Amino acid sequence: MNNVNYPSVSTTLAIGNIELTNRIVFPAWQVNYANTDGTVSDKLTDFYTAIADGGCGLIFTGVASVSSDSIAFDRVMRIDHDGCVPGLTKLFGEISSRGSVPGIQIAHYGRQAARSVTGHDLLAPSAIPCPVMSQRDPEYVVREMTSGEIARVRNDFIEAAVRAERAGAEVVEVHAAHGYLLSEFLSPYSNHRSDDYGGSPRNRARLIIEIIEGIRERCDIAISVRVSGDEFVEGGLSPPDFAEIIPLLEAAGMDMLNVSAGVYESMERIVPPQSLGDMPHVAIAAGLKRFASVPVCAVGSVFSIYDAESIVVEGKADLGAMGRAQVADPGIVKKSLEGREDDVRACTKCNECMFWTTGDPEMYCSVNPKLKR
Ligand SMILES: Cc1cc2nc3c(=O)[nH]c(=O)nc-3n(C[C@H](O)[C@H](O)[C@H](O)COP(=O)(O)O)c2cc1C
Repeated sequence: MNNVNYPSVSTTLAIGNIELTNRIVFPAWQVNYANTDGTVSDKLTDFYTAIADGGCGLIFTGVASVSSDSIAFDRVMRIDHDGCVPGLTKLFGEISSRGSVPGIQIAHYGRQAARSVTGHDLLAPSAIPCPVMSQRDPEYVVREMTSGEIARVRNDFIEAAVRAERAGAEVVEVHAAHGYLLSEFLSPYSNHRSDDYGGSPRNRARLIIEIIEGIRERCDIAISVRVSGDEFVEGGLSPPDFAEIIPLLEAAGMDMLNVSAGVYESMERIVPPQSLGDMPHVAIAAGLKRFASVPVCAVGSVFSIYDAESIVVEGKADLGAMGRAQVADPGIVKKSLEGREDDVRACTKCNECMFWTTGDPEMYCSVNPKLKR
């Protein structure tokens, strides 16, 4: 039965052939709680089970790295070898036994990886350095991918999805946002190739399309794609560009579109600070929804279930992702649906969680006592 106060956000929703019990999503969060070999630690499992206990409909774990040359930190989740599967199986089991749908975001960091961590030259569609990482990483070297490397990375994504399904994930999210490798291919800002993978929107989307098709061929898992609907950089993607791209992704087999914003050069758009105001990116999601027939998720400073309800009820998106709000209080969904909004521990928007800007080795939250420094 729908909740009287939040009738839209508490409604079920089908993503491909799976059903969510509500429209609240936990978006992928890199927390650096994995073991040093990228396998799931108890700390990582506890982090996600708290959010599942709190009633979130769909939880994206990760980001999980699909290749050994794709990482930027020591303790990122990985899904590039079979040794990751037992830990993931336990994690997804814990999430689904609590009634949430377990998903996983899979990614290659491309030119935003750290060579000092991977020991490999960084791979990108074109040899254009990331202005942020090239300053941060003293060993930074990026080079244009060969067609053989494109084929290898495509296969890494598909194998990662196969492992995710084997471990019990019900949704796999292909990370094509925030300036990582697939986002670099999609954007004319970072893709200057002149072969089949550069130039037209279809060519720039080709690698993502091939990955979706490859996953579809091998798995029954639902497929989400996360994009930056507006990159907020000169010459980058903005909503009208998606008129051509979204139908291509849907034809390949995409079941859900997760709309974020920004790349590293416009970091304030990836995790919007208070100065950008309330829900600054919902209009971007609504703009992309015009081109989509699959469910669309909006994100960015959604700090209450009331806000998420407004997004769904106004038809701007079909789901609302809440990152910082659920980290501050993993119980926010259940408490709000039960009318206990006053018990919610609110996120203060201090952004201390952005550990890569504070120099912390892992993610801390200034208000959640379990995650304090
Ligand atoms: C600590 C931290 C880690 C994040 N890691 C990821 C990630 O791995 N993949 C991703 O797509 N977005 C990542 N994001 C962005 C979030 O998924 C989300 O889009 C962002 O926090 C805005 O949502 P919010 O305002 O509800 O927090 C991260 C954000 C933070 C603060």
